[in-house]
Order: sequence, then C-alpha cells, then structure tokens
Amino acid sequence: MKVLIVGSGGREHAIAWKVSKSPKVDKIYCAPGNAGIAELAECVKIGAMEFDRLADFAEENKIDLTVIGMDDPLVGGVVDVFESRGLRVFGPRGNAAVLEGSKAFSKDLMKKYHIPTAAYEVFDDAGEALEYLKTAPMPTVLKADGLALGKGVLICNTLEEAEAGVREIMTDKKFGTAGNKMVIEEFMTGREVSVLSFVDGTTIRIMTSSQDHKRAMDGDQGLNTGGMGTFSPSPFYTEEVDAFCREHIYQATVDAMKAEGRPFKGIIFFGLMLTGQGPKVLEYNARFGDPETQVVLPRMKNDIVEVFEACVDGTLDQIELAFEDNAAVCVVLASDGYPVKYEKGFPIHGLEAFRGREGRYAFHAGTTFDADGNIVTNGGRVLGITALGGDLKEARANAYAAAEWIDFQNKYMRRDIGKAIDDLT
Ligand code: AMP
Ligand code: GLY
Repeated sequence: MKVLIVGSGGREHAIAWKVSKSPKVDKIYCAPGNAGIAELAECVKIGAMEFDRLADFAEENKIDLTVIGMDDPLVGGVVDVFESRGLRVFGPRGNAAVLEGSKAFSKDLMKKYHIPTAAYEVFDDAGEALEYLKTAPMPTVLKADGLALGKGVLICNTLEEAEAGVREIMTDKKFGTAGNKMVIEEFMTGREVSVLSFVDGTTIRIMTSSQDHKRAMDGDQGLNTGGMGTFSPSPFYTEEVDAFCREHIYQATVDAMKAEGRPFKGIIFFGLMLTGQGPKVLEYNARFGDPETQVVLPRMKNDIVEVFEACVDGTLDQIELAFEDNAAVCVVLASDGYPVKYEKGFPIHGLEAFRGREGRYAFHAGTTFDADGNIVTNGGRVLGITALGGDLKEARANAYAAAEWIDFQNKYMRRDIGKAIDDLT
C-alpha cells in the first residue's frame, strides 16, 4: 500500500512512524512533512490547505489511503474533496469536523444530547455578551467559536478581565473570524485528561488515556502553548471514570453526530475535566492530539493501517484495540521564547543517538534542512522526546535522560512533565 499523510508536526511524525510499522505499507509520502518525517517518508512540497493539489497528487501516485493529521484542512473540507474524487481518505468530512471547528456547535450538541459539559451561553453580539457578564459568576471562561490555534480560550478572574476579553475576541477580532461568535461558560476545576478514539460513523474504540501540559513554564505558569509534554496513561483516568465516560460521553457523542446527519469518521479527541460532579467534556477535537499522539501510538499494539481502513470502511466493530502494559512520557524541546517570539535555523545535534533504539523516539515538530543538508530548528516546538518505561516514573526518567542527548542553541523544556505522578506515590 501507498499511504499519504498530511501535516508537518510531531503528531504527523508519530503517525508516520506507526504507519511505517505496518506490514501492509510499502511506501509513505507526507505533505509537507519535516526533516524527521523525511527519514520514513518521501516529503512532498504541497501545503495542507491545497486540497486540489493534494488530491491530484494522490490520484497521480495511486495513493491507497490518505490520513489527515491537522484540524484546519479537516474543518475546511479536505475529506469532502478527496471523497468527491473517489479517493480513500481517513478523517471526518467538513460537516462532522465542525465538532472541533465550532465551539457553539459542540456545546449545543452536548446540551441537546445530555452529554456532561460546563453550563454556557452562545453570543454573536458583543453588547449582549457584555450585558450577560454583569451577572455571571467569576472566574468565567470565554471561548472564540472557531479554530484559533488552541489560543482562543480566556480564563477571566474578574469582570474587568472578562469585559476586556469579550472586546478582544468579538470587537478587535484578535482570533480573526473565529471570534464572530463566542461561548461564555462556567469555570470548572479538576484534573484534565485527554482520551483519543477511532470512530467509523457508528462504532467507537477508545485508546489509552494521556495528559498534556499546555502552559509554557513549570508549575503550569506562563502562556498557553500547543503542548509542552505529555504522559500516558493518566493514573487519574480510573476504571470508574472510564465506565462513566463510556456510559455518558463517548458513544453518546457518536450517536448524536449520526442523528444530526453528520456521521463522524476519524479521530475524536475528548478533552475531559474530572470535576467533583464527575467527568465533563471541556472540548472535542476532530483529530489526533499533539503531543498526545507521541505517547499514545508508541504504546499501541494494533496495526494502525488496519484500524484506519476499518474506520473508512465502517467495520470498526470487528477491531479491538490493544495497548502495552507500560507507560510513555514526551518532553517537548522548544525554542526559548516560544510561544511568543523565538529564533529558528540552529543546527540540532545528537539525533543519531535515537537511531535504531527501541523505546526512545525523537519526533520532529519544527525542523527542516538547511542549504547544506543539516537538520536545523524551524519552529517554536522543535522535537518531542518520547520514552517508554515499565511505569510512569521510569518513562519520565528515561524521557528526561534522552532529552539531554539533544543539543541546539536556545533549547528550552519544562522540567516537570509528569510530575503529577509523584502526588500519587
Ligand atoms: P479548550 O481549548 O476548550 O480545551 O480550552 C483550553 C484549556 O482551557 C483547557 O485545557 C482547560 O485547561 C481550560 N478550560 C477550558 N474550558 C474550561 C472551563 N470551563 N473551566 C476551566 N478551565 C477550562
Ligand atoms: N494537545 C492538545 C491538542 O492537540 O489540541
């Protein structure tokens, strides 16, 4: 089989690595890819939003399956373009990717189908939002409706902060058209857990749990980022939590989308908060998480290509997922200054230490080749260093040891990824 992967981050590197393990696959392409993915796949210079060029490429090169990693092309309808041309593609259509593409849509869906989530109101007028805030309890949470690179959520402690937030989102359009509408919701407290799942329109299969660290600095200080590190499984995702989510959240979401005439095929990522009143949905994503994927896929036993195909064909009920009884930790090596301002173009040393080593992975997030063919930094998040271990403590020690094998100018990492594990022991 020939497989095309669309995207260029650590998530797509992890997907490409897992696809490369499938005995069914002879050749992998990635558009546009990065310097790490280039070791496993032929990288093609087509952007993720160039739908017709991607479909042309898939047709001309007789690609058997295209896997879309990123949210923007999914919400933009890349799957519809591929399907209209008779090309096999893994991911939700535009009308289903709206589960991530519009927070107002996903909140209304949860309300209609009684899926537990924070209480909320939707606004498309700044004046009405400001009026509502006058009686809203603080803290409160403001969310731009559309995609905003994971940055469209503001947690406001005071009325003044919240009023300024409404103006940023709706009047100043800080997040562009994503702020044409907004959600104002109840502030919840509790531990966060990420749960990824495969869905074929009807059947859902849950992957092992994980947890992201979204803030830039230790102790969850600093700005929100795309994710500074992850661990899997989450010890807080107990059997009891799992049973509750299976009963009230997972299948209910898939059934709701089907009932709305928007059958969902692809990955649903459930961002959950374990509150005092039980697990609630913080958000849905319509794709693999980044960097959750970097800790979940190395633990997965299945041939991922078989699972992708079962989702496309609607035969997921015939597949059971299996995960190793171990743990994984991913520490993101970033460029100092991320997520605000950072430099690029520095040579990366030490990558050879990972070659051929089982259980230690350097997933590339923002890397490229310079004119001399050296691998250099090319983004805020540069590498996701993932290590396996018998348990979370061991995986964490292994990941931090492996993070030291790598050297580049302005290298920055959080030192407390997975530290919450210590609270338990
Ligand atoms: P989201 O993109 O919706 O997952 O929001 C980003 C982050 O904001 C989440 O991971 C939470 O840490 C936080 N967050 C979102 N919604 C709420 C809420 N209702 N209460 C408390 N924190 C929230
Ligand atoms: N790690 C969070 C996300 O992928 O949105």
